[in-house]
Amino acid sequence: MEGSRDTVKLAPSILAADFARLGQQVTEAEGAGADRIHVDVMDGHFVPNLSMGAVIVQSLRRVTRLPLEVHLMISDPDFFLDEFVEAGSDAFLVHWEGNNNLHRTMQRIRTLGKRVGVAINPATPAAVLEEIVPDLDQVLVMTVNPGFGHQKFIRTTLPKIGQVRALIERRELACELEVDGGIDATTAPLVVRAGATALVAGAAIFGDGQGVAAAMNRLRAALKDSEHEREPAERAAR
Ligand code: DX5
Ligand code: ZN
Repeated sequence: MEGSRDTVKLAPSILAADFARLGQQVTEAEGAGADRIHVDVMDGHFVPNLSMGAVIVQSLRRVTRLPLEVHLMISDPDFFLDEFVEAGSDAFLVHWEGNNNLHRTMQRIRTLGKRVGVAINPATPAAVLEEIVPDLDQVLVMTVNPGFGHQKFIRTTLPKIGQVRALIERRELACELEVDGGIDATTAPLVVRAGATALVAGAAIFGDGQGVAAAMNRLRAALKDSEHEREPAERAAR
């Protein structure tokens, strides 16, 4: 089974938001049916960019009921977990790369009562998830190299999305398959067809001149259209 277009989740990434109007933009995303808010945390060390800390989560917690998922692109995620939990985070996405004790980090997140996700970079094979996927709520396949918004989708990640989907299906796990980077109305149908069930989108949602709601509608419409294109042959085969 692959990701169903009807249930594909949208996670707007506030990295592309206008920070002077952050609360308003997140409220708009919530009103337009966002499933959760994606918060990109960068330390200038794990990735060559700085972004935001727990204080942003704390402020957002007051303006939205949506789950706040925190993507930690930092060298020592364990060090910051408590702070982010206190601020109101609901889920953590930690990287496979550079963590010699990844399973311990996963266990700590679980102990803190939060959803656990592991992210893999474009150069990292799906196979590294083999041993840990039963203990995950989410996998995050990076479809750009982490560190910046507005980057071009890396097409060679598509077969890997399929491999991760197969890994999840083979074990009949409920694990979500989320993708992150360069997702727009053109690439969204490709990743969903490959097996993604949740999409992070920054520029395509907050960088749209017509506003957040219009941008989200466009993404959903693209997914719907691509489903119609596939009819009837592929649908019949399901
Ligand atoms: C990249 C971040 C992404 C980023 C996606 O390092 O992890 O979440 O905000 O932004 P877009 O959708 O603009 O590629
Ligand atoms: Zn991210």
